[in-house]
Amino acid sequence: MALSIKSVVELNNGLNMPLLGLGVFRSQAGEETRSAVRTALEYGYRMIDTARIYCNEKSVGRGIKDSLVPREDIFITTKLWKDDFENPRRGLEQSLERLGVDYVDLYLLHWPFKGYCQAYLELEQLQREGLCKAIGVSNFKIHHLEDLKAHGASTIPQVNQVECHPLNAENELLNYCRKQNIILEAYSPLGGEGNTLLSDPRIASLSDYYKVSPAQLILRWNIQRGVVVIPKSIRPQRILENSQLYSFELTMDDMDVISDINANLRRAYDSDKIDQRPASTFPKIIEEE
Ligand SMILES: NC(=O)c1ccc[n+]([C@@H]2O[C@H](COP(=O)([O-])OP(=O)(O)OC[C@H]3O[C@@H](n4cnc5c(N)ncnc54)[C@H](OP(=O)(O)O)[C@@H]3O)[C@@H](O)[C@H]2O)c1
Repeated sequence: MALSIKSVVELNNGLNMPLLGLGVFRSQAGEETRSAVRTALEYGYRMIDTARIYCNEKSVGRGIKDSLVPREDIFITTKLWKDDFENPRRGLEQSLERLGVDYVDLYLLHWPFKGYCQAYLELEQLQREGLCKAIGVSNFKIHHLEDLKAHGASTIPQVNQVECHPLNAENELLNYCRKQNIILEAYSPLGGEGNTLLSDPRIASLSDYYKVSPAQLILRWNIQRGVVVIPKSIRPQRILENSQLYSFELTMDDMDVISDINANLRRAYDSDKIDQRPASTFPKIIEEE
């Protein structure tokens, strides 16, 4: 069946997750995030990706209410930050309060911080209680995922959210996740803020050929691989552009041309070294009004 803005992937617990969502990392708390969320929902997006550390969950909740789209039609993701790894219940309950909802659709461990196996076991309990419909992880490598099993996880994570775009295709991890029935979700699907990917001449020539923008071309590449994408923008025109991915289809050959760009070039921090990252380099938590 042809893909559309309504397309979903089925998670390993039977829940449907949209293939496209709006990311809100670095969207300012307040009107900037609130109106980006409202605009995206008005354009037909049905998924929003936030996190405790983005400090904009209240604004996300307000944008959702403004949109008048029923809460149950929206897939909301948030993430557990390291401060709450020893108390995931508190982390989730406080996120729910800020978002103004009584469950999230997906709750992720933001990074494999120290204690991630125990924190994951607690996410399983929160899921059993219905506080989150699906659970998963972010920035996990294969060995982190294997570690969960070795430490008694009774469920496979539904989702692993990692940096993924043509310069960092994550082929090995994607193959592993497919075999394990874990959905790979691409963060920084446009290459992230200040990226050069969108001006890459190989992307430019193909986007000219398909008469689409570079952003549309590379988002489409990921969704054709079955990878969920959550591009961030605060600009209505780009929010719309990033959702118009369904009037064209990349041929297998052109999928390969884009895949060949891969250089395993990750911009994010190495998750194996995340516990050594100096505390001063993490974003500071600023409470929203
Ligand atoms: N789990 C994690 O550790 C993690 C880490 C990073 C991100 N994420 C999630 O993934 C989401 C997306 O990743 P990201 O924000 O890092 O990067 P991204 O979505 O790849 O790129 C966002 C950047 O591209 C610009 N942009 C958006 N649409 C564009 C278009 N059509 N043409 C040209 N430029 C465009 C945005 O600027 P404007 O806003 O000015 O349009 C922004 O500077 C985040 O917002 C967050 O929800 C998760």
